[in-house]
Amino acid sequence: MTLAGRHLISINDFSNEEIEAVLNLADEMSSAIEKGKRLDLCQGKELYTIFYEPSTRTRSSFETAMHRLGGTVVTHAEAQVTSSAAKGESIADTIRVLERYADIIVMRHPLDGSTRLAAEHSSVPVISGGDGAHEHPTQTLLDLYTIRKEKGAIRGKGVALCGDLRHGRTVHSLVIALARFGAEITCIAPPDFGLPDHIRDILKAYRCKLTEYESLEDIVAEGSLVLHQPRVESRESRVESRGGRGTPERSVSRLQTGFMSFLLENLDVLYFTRLQRERLPTGKIGDAAEESYRINRQLLEKSRDDALIMHPLPRTNELAYEVDQDKRAAYFRQAGYGVPVRMALIALLLGAVETRVSEWPKRKTPKLAKDVSGVRCLNPRCVTQAERYATAKFYPVNPQLLRCYYCDWMVQVV
Ligand code: NCD
Repeated sequence: MTLAGRHLISINDFSNEEIEAVLNLADEMSSAIEKGKRLDLCQGKELYTIFYEPSTRTRSSFETAMHRLGGTVVTHAEAQVTSSAAKGESIADTIRVLERYADIIVMRHPLDGSTRLAAEHSSVPVISGGDGAHEHPTQTLLDLYTIRKEKGAIRGKGVALCGDLRHGRTVHSLVIALARFGAEITCIAPPDFGLPDHIRDILKAYRCKLTEYESLEDIVAEGSLVLHQPRVESRESRVESRGGRGTPERSVSRLQTGFMSFLLENLDVLYFTRLQRERLPTGKIGDAAEESYRINRQLLEKSRDDALIMHPLPRTNELAYEVDQDKRAAYFRQAGYGVPVRMALIALLLGAVETRVSEWPKRKTPKLAKDVSGVRCLNPRCVTQAERYATAKFYPVNPQLLRCYYCDWMVQVV
């Protein structure tokens, strides 16, 4: 089967079988790299990277990957100032030009849904290198690769996602993939920094069990945990409470010493993320939040000997440098896996390699909602707010609820 010509904008654009095909090929790419083999699979092909936001790993690992495949690379870093975007050119027009030069495009942009809009206007594959606070699907591919390679499997593994789960795009793609691959997910996020509603809505489809906590520091400092459970955050319950039943009380309980050991005993992976300050209002907001989760030697001592500490990087204060020496610190190895994983992805999307799968389940393409003229996405960071030529489009979730085609935010209709 082939992945030739496909875009990768959301992790949900690929089925589990397709993701596994990328990871399997990444293993082959990895052994080719280890043997020092130069591949010429993509000779004569051109990769364009166009990044409107800073990047260290994503852009350079894509570029390294293409070089290792024998292809060539053109780079647009700081495209917000170096491209005609600075003169007011739209995303659609930029892509309509680049598709004439490139065989494949990797784009990063600060607006949610921007890379989906780019893909709509491109006849060559577009890969998202991250769109605003929405998703970062290729980071997820390498995160899954890391877990699979170092823990042997994803299914049944206990994975804790810690940090700014609201604004961090890496965890949005990752939590969906973990749910689909059957991992057991724990979320540890400061108050107001938990998973956004639209991600919870997507997760519902996978009937996944989420356990959520609000602080890691409480666990470490006192050997007990301030637990807010359940996080009654779904839109449905809020709507209900507005309907006169009052705001649901959050139960706060102090669990016994020993609970943390229990929690950590069950965690195969601790995945940390930084506070996404660039997506917060300026000022001190976030400082206290940042203090509430941090991994250091003390916490490491309480974790399993075979746990993996992961982080998409860059780190700020949530990951102490003293952790780096520990064999459980996987984050630099994780960043390294970005090259074979992105080699596999590029080679597959360019049709330079076919997957080894002879047939996989037919993909269901969801149909767009009809009669939505006048409905607009409520996400202030949605690309449809800025690029006004982009017609708002939605998927129907139920008769009262629509999901934005670009950024996945839900809109209630009456
Ligand atoms: C992430 C990103 O850009 O979302 N970085 C990356 O690609 N590895 C994470 C982050 O910036 O916090």
